[in-house]
Amino acid sequence: MAEELDRAKSVAARAAVERRVRPGLRLALGTGSTAAFAVRAIAERFPDGGFDCVASSRATEELARSLGLAVRPLAADDTFDLMIDGADEVTPGLDLTKGGGGALLREKLLAYLSREVTIVVDPAKLVGTLGERFPIPVEVVPFARPALERELGGIGFEVHRRRGPDGAAFVTDNGNEILDLSPTAPLTDPRATDRTLHDHIGVVETGLFVGVADRVVVGWPDGRVVEKTAPPRPHTAAERRR
Ligand code: A5P
Repeated sequence: MAEELDRAKSVAARAAVERRVRPGLRLALGTGSTAAFAVRAIAERFPDGGFDCVASSRATEELARSLGLAVRPLAADDTFDLMIDGADEVTPGLDLTKGGGGALLREKLLAYLSREVTIVVDPAKLVGTLGERFPIPVEVVPFARPALERELGGIGFEVHRRRGPDGAAFVTDNGNEILDLSPTAPLTDPRATDRTLHDHIGVVETGLFVGVADRVVVGWPDGRVVEKTAPPRPHTAAERRR
């Protein structure tokens, strides 16, 4: 089963790289196991590099560098031609839940600075509504975490403080914690839910990525690929929000 999933992730990642990546692009690199397949596919397909890359996590930065890709810190006036990333859930309208790897803040920032956001997933990520199969990760300031656990528990979520494999609180690359929220009723308006969550002091960012993806590439273990595209939008998601 795990092998089949990996095969599907690799099929999606390779197809996206083949179709969307060409030398010279300014690339934003996502985080997680499927994004890692994409990073490997980029390094394999373009051994001479030629990309200007910023990574959404330390883990991706290390992986990309180990494969010979040049990765630099985010600069003040950065925009990217393409972001390739994974997702935990994808709806028919291409809204996403992200943050299973805890990198949601940097992922959302880089996505908002990218002209195109291409998401690579296996079919298990396809859902009807967000929060259906995967909890919604919310990055919170550690000081506020106890209060937020109570507050968010009172507005329709079961709240779980994320812990690492060693049982200690999970800490993001930004020094924050993650609360995983399971909605007690279907999320009918994820954009409104995102705003509501942001109204709580101490919430840094949420894993609800609404209207962010331009393209989703789904791969199957047998090699099949289905690509879905969102209707044309203003070229960066940051502009969409204005
Ligand atoms: C990282 O924080 C996440 O947003 C990942 O992109 C997401 O969890 C998907 O990860 P996998 O590709 O490992 O399933």
